[in-house]
Amino acid sequence: MKKVYAAITAIEAWYPPDILTNADLEKMVDTTDKWIVSRTGIKERRILRGPDKGTSELAVPAVKKLLEKTGTSPKEIDMVICTTVTPDMFFPSTANIISDKVGITNAFSFDMAAACSGFVYMLAVASKFIETGSAKKIICIGADKMSSITDYTDRSTCPLFGDAAGAVLLEPSTEFGIMDHILRTDGSGRHHLYMKAGGSQRPASHETVDAHEHFIFQEGQTVFKMAVSKMADVSVEMMEKHQIPADKVWLVPHQANLRIITAVAKRMGLDPKRVMINIQKYGNTTTATIPLVIYEYEKKLRKGDPLILSSFGGGFTWGSVYLTWAYDPE
Ligand code: ACO
Repeated sequence: MKKVYAAITAIEAWYPPDILTNADLEKMVDTTDKWIVSRTGIKERRILRGPDKGTSELAVPAVKKLLEKTGTSPKEIDMVICTTVTPDMFFPSTANIISDKVGITNAFSFDMAAACSGFVYMLAVASKFIETGSAKKIICIGADKMSSITDYTDRSTCPLFGDAAGAVLLEPSTEFGIMDHILRTDGSGRHHLYMKAGGSQRPASHETVDAHEHFIFQEGQTVFKMAVSKMADVSVEMMEKHQIPADKVWLVPHQANLRIITAVAKRMGLDPKRVMINIQKYGNTTTATIPLVIYEYEKKLRKGDPLILSSFGGGFTWGSVYLTWAYDPE
């Protein structure tokens, strides 16, 4: 019997219309467009505005477009996973809320959290259900409303993040799909990038709100160094393990900092044309960066193209996924 792979058979994304530019940030904190562009590569990011709008509001349009594009009825979906660090609420899971809003009623849905590595972790988990025949159609969503946990008085973090969602449909294929993954965690890194309060260890109080502890805390330089070395390690390891030629592979890096992306591509010996980049327009949308950038490069991809997805994030978590693209552009 032929081996079954989990193939991405469609991809969609959605981001809100409101743009926050570097010029806007210059009016909010002591920063400059020049500093932000030279240190991060980011020019603007999208922000979901309006009362009572959570991460599911970003994900629902992406999932609806995915279903429409593929002519799939919501009733055909077996499983929905949403990876996010900004769920609508602690419980129920955001995947349940998304499923309800788009009419997915025959599936089981749950959230996964691995910070910026959520999308690669999620693909690895979801692929096992396809490979074993337990599921035929899985929707995997990466969605984050990072503006809800960004401190717009902190110049060291507020230029970095934005809001967006991306979603893929996974289906069985005997030719293309997710071939391999390398996933890693180092929990001792948890103190360098995290949200200090709001969990069970330190529930919300007046004190935690006053101390700005419900926002992202990051020691940028420590995270930067780890991100470069760990993302490069797992990407090079994957490329060598499968002997993927540098002139054929597409690198799909998590979009946290243009300097990190460039350093990883250099260690892999890649021509910049083989590297997917859109950080300048959206900033770091955490779990959404990888599907959002693939979505924007979709028309350049051909059936059989090798892609290495690579990420690093809070936890610390990092990893790479090797997949072959399953379809030609329409
Ligand atoms: N504008 C102007 N100056 C600034 C700004 C700003 N927005 N922010 C910081 N500075 C200043 C600092 O105060 C510091 O000044 P000093 O030298 O007088 O003290 C100087 O710029 C240098 O600051 P650094 O923090 O050392 O700047 P760095 O070059 O490291 O860039 C950055 C900071 C962009 C955050 C970088 O460290 C980075 O990208 N880190 C990794 C991010 C990442 O990959 N995160 C993981 C994923 S996120 C997730 O999982 C949710």
